[in-house]
Amino acid sequence: MEKIRIRSEGALRLNGRVKISGSKNAVLPAIAAALLTREKVRLRNVPLVKDVHTILTLMKGLGADSSLRRNTLTLEAEKFASTEASYELVRAMRASILVLGPMLARSGKAVVALPGGCAIGTRPIDLHMNGLQKMGARLTLEHGYITAEASKLRGADITFEKKTVGGTENIVMAACLARGETVLRNCAREPEVESLCRLLVKMGGRIEGVGEDVMRVRGVDELGGAAHDIIPDRIEAGTFLVAGALNQGSIDLVDADPAHLSTVIERLRFSGTRVEVKKDRIRVAGGGSILPQDITTSPYPGFPTDMQAQFMVLLTQAAGTSIITETIFERRFSHVNELLRLGANIEVLGDKAIVRGRTPLSAAEVMATDLRASASLILAGLVAKGETVINDVEHLDRGYENIEDKLRGLGADIKRISA
Ligand code: UD1
Repeated sequence: MEKIRIRSEGALRLNGRVKISGSKNAVLPAIAAALLTREKVRLRNVPLVKDVHTILTLMKGLGADSSLRRNTLTLEAEKFASTEASYELVRAMRASILVLGPMLARSGKAVVALPGGCAIGTRPIDLHMNGLQKMGARLTLEHGYITAEASKLRGADITFEKKTVGGTENIVMAACLARGETVLRNCAREPEVESLCRLLVKMGGRIEGVGEDVMRVRGVDELGGAAHDIIPDRIEAGTFLVAGALNQGSIDLVDADPAHLSTVIERLRFSGTRVEVKKDRIRVAGGGSILPQDITTSPYPGFPTDMQAQFMVLLTQAAGTSIITETIFERRFSHVNELLRLGANIEVLGDKAIVRGRTPLSAAEVMATDLRASASLILAGLVAKGETVINDVEHLDRGYENIEDKLRGLGADIKRISA
């Protein structure tokens, strides 16, 4: 088990440039999309994070070859060796469910383990299944596995009852190879969904309304190969923006896309943080006093649930009380108990966290419980006086590429240690 140790005298002086990696949540569906064609799909700017290795293991089991050189990944799924995604892999990474739609659409059958429990609350996949059923798939559940079968999916008119990123991605991929037209309503509009659709269009998919609430997909018989650049990781960028806001000095984020971060930047400016935006760069300067504010998570372009834990740390340092309302996932407050160990004053009432600031944080040993919770503990460790040790950092490795190296490059005293 590895741990991360951070030493701090209170607020640090962080200065310099940090390169933002490719988006984890954009690359995972792009990899699954390679199952839609026998030709090669080449992805550039791929982040080297654990979730990418997990989905590549899954792809290998299904018969897809892959080669990863630096940050360029080439995939080739000439034929299927298996159509089963095991419980072991789906449990390790819920996004494994993204192979369901493409595998069913191309091979006529897909067997995927039900994801089950998850650290951030129940995360059903009923909306994925309802969509496929509407397209003519027969679904059965046995021994914890869903079997989906359809010799040829057919177009349908599907309204997602709730915005779902993974659901929209799964169904749009399946619709590209269905017979006839599929209309998708109330689609998730996250940049990662849009990026997937752009890849599908390059592969020959006929999608109208990319990035919009309603998409129309006219199915084709076959898709072909394509090359695609993975968009910058807006959550990694947001995490570094909060690091800059909490500390002194100024950080330049390079290869970021400010357009994907407008709500986060707006909220940071509201807190009193100086944020300057150029085309693919963002400069953040901290050190001033931080104002409290209320934040509610919502689907894109609203405030992202994946930035909630990091902002909570910022608000522990604000002069006054803030309320954070989490509307996307219930029980996504597992970081609160750990932040309490560091001296924060936070009370959880249902879907709300009341953060009373400003509380000086003091270092302690804490435990990472999920990916974004881990990021929030790193941010807290940067401003907690003394030596903070974060246990169970494998959650962090799922989604952040070289975070310690990047922070060390900015002047933080952070080190990975083996237990
Ligand atoms: C994706 C992101 C995750 C992010 C989340 C919300 C990836 C790999 N992960 O997760 O980082 O936090 O979007 O922005 O891209 N729901 C249902 N039934 C379904 C599907 C979803 O009720 O069939 C609910 C969920 O429980 C949740 C909400 O819809 O309350 C949104 O979930 P969804 O957008 O599907 O999240 P993911 O795609 O799993």
